[in-house]
Amino acid sequence: MNIILLGPPGAGKGTQASSLVARRGMVQLSTGDMLRAAVKAETPVGLQAKAVMASGALVSDPIVSALIGERLDQGDTGSGVIFDGFPRTAAQAEALDLLLAERGQQLDHVIELTVDEAVLTERIVGRYTCAQCGEGYHDRFKQPAVAGVCDVCGSTSFKRRPDDTAETIATRMSIYRGETAPILPFYVARGLVAQVDGMADIEQVTAAIGAVLDG
Ligand code: AP5
Ligand code: MG
Ligand code: ZN
Repeated sequence: MNIILLGPPGAGKGTQASSLVARRGMVQLSTGDMLRAAVKAETPVGLQAKAVMASGALVSDPIVSALIGERLDQGDTGSGVIFDGFPRTAAQAEALDLLLAERGQQLDHVIELTVDEAVLTERIVGRYTCAQCGEGYHDRFKQPAVAGVCDVCGSTSFKRRPDDTAETIATRMSIYRGETAPILPFYVARGLVAQVDGMADIEQVTAAIGAVLDG
């Protein structure tokens, strides 16, 4: 089972992908996470991507498509893949079709997380992650059980993304509207798209996605 989670910044793609990983043993392929890892490791891709990401613009199609291709070849994706934050342009959608076909695979579902843009800024500026294990949290919507201590690994060190500022969010939203949302009809025409209400509580969104995958 291979699925795409599609939605604007802050829609909950990463949050839902990690729960699918925990519950179904699927593998999350987040181009955002891969690029952040590359930036941190100062690889050639990371050096190129750093400023682009900080500005909220998109990294080039060939770079991200190559990251996905390499990741698909690591041999651990047999239980299914969740594409999180990829594809984001028509060229990437075409590249994904090719990457899957070359590996004898296909797409099963495209889950569109629909959200009211007004809440997205609040979700994004309140977001932080565990510096140790990467578990995601939110100042208001998802706090650790013990304040300041990661539920998953017990670490007390957390971090925020450099692109999670109000100015950058505006750029990211407009790129979503201009470049990413227009790929939806491509998948609607193939009967792959299911809309899920991303405004519901995190658990309810998880249940709704589960219903699509099991339906
Ligand atoms: P990327 O990392 O993909 O960021 P994004 O698309 O902007 O999405 P986010 O990660 O901000 O949001 P999300 O939907 O994952 O929300 P989350 O679950 O965290 O990309 C970053 C950058 O990398 C791009 O700008 C670009 O430069 C580059 N890049 C990446 N992929 C690329 C590609 N394919 N091509 C080119 N460039 C690429 O949730 C947000 C917060 O809300 C969390 O705190 C969460 O706890 C909370 N929350 C989630 N769901 C709910 C809910 N239902 N109710 C209340 N709170 C909720
Ligand atoms: Mg994310
Ligand atoms: Zn942790």
